[in-house]
Amino acid sequence: MKQIIIPEIRRRIEQKKISEKQDQDIFYLDVMIELAMKDGYLSRDNQDIDEHFLDKIANHLLFICHEMISPFWMVASMLLFELWSRPEYATPLRKELESALELTGGQWSFDLFKQTPKFESFTKETLRLNPPSALTSGRQLLKPLTLQSFAHTFNPGAKIGFMPARWAQRDPDNYRDPNTFDGYRFVDPATGTCDISGTITPTEKWLPFAIGASTCPGRLAGTRITQVMFAKILYGYDANLDGIDAAFFLHYDGVTWPNPEITVLVRTRQADENDGPLCP
Ligand code: HEM
Repeated sequence: MKQIIIPEIRRRIEQKKISEKQDQDIFYLDVMIELAMKDGYLSRDNQDIDEHFLDKIANHLLFICHEMISPFWMVASMLLFELWSRPEYATPLRKELESALELTGGQWSFDLFKQTPKFESFTKETLRLNPPSALTSGRQLLKPLTLQSFAHTFNPGAKIGFMPARWAQRDPDNYRDPNTFDGYRFVDPATGTCDISGTITPTEKWLPFAIGASTCPGRLAGTRITQVMFAKILYGYDANLDGIDAAFFLHYDGVTWPNPEITVLVRTRQADENDGPLCP
């Protein structure tokens, strides 16, 4: 990713050196460059651009982009809530990850997840029941819109979600016993495999990343990065949600949120012979 971003940062810095500050600098990168010039980290006169500085800006941009656009924290919290309220999944998932890590030589690569069908299925089941964007493909009206079938005119400012992901994924026509969490639902009982490409392939029954023109472009990286975060916590820590009677998930404005009021006591996991070793 940085191989793509750094030349663009360099190009924009060069462009800024020869142009005056524009009031319409609205891109985050331009603002960062202007601030760096103001604070003296970059100069309009200096020919050389510090490579270390370019790398720092690229890291910062990636961090902000992931933090702002991606619901990593939401999906990771959902996975943990589902796990900690069902402790029976912890040992089998840990064992599976451990065997997969042996095959990849301890590398947390994308290939790891080709060897972890139960873990993949657990992830899919969590996304099936709790797609963060419960209503995807949301748009805000700029002008009045009349929908004849509703016999209603929506005013500018109204938000409309066109793809009811949560409801499609809880429809009994699409999934057997759809309101029950079955962490191994997506494991093929005949082969023991899980279709990992299906996790990121939208269909009318699978909409956690929307569908069509606005399908999430970061869905593969988003899923895998979240899975690594989740796997490392699963591996290294124990917690449980016993005695909590608040809802784990809240629904607001077409979005499903992990309840931020929930406090969980987490402790470093003590390895025992049933569970295998702690996180490498
Ligand atoms: C597991 C994590 C993620 C989930 C569940 C997710 C989900 C979604 C959904 C549902 C949409 C469609 C929004 C709509 O139109 O209603 C979307 C769009 C988008 N996502 Fe993600 N996303 C994830 C990770 C990421 C990451 C890592 C990135 C980039 C770093 C990213 C970048 C985007 C962008 C740019 C769009 C807008 C696409 C467009 O409208 O053309 N997402 N995401």
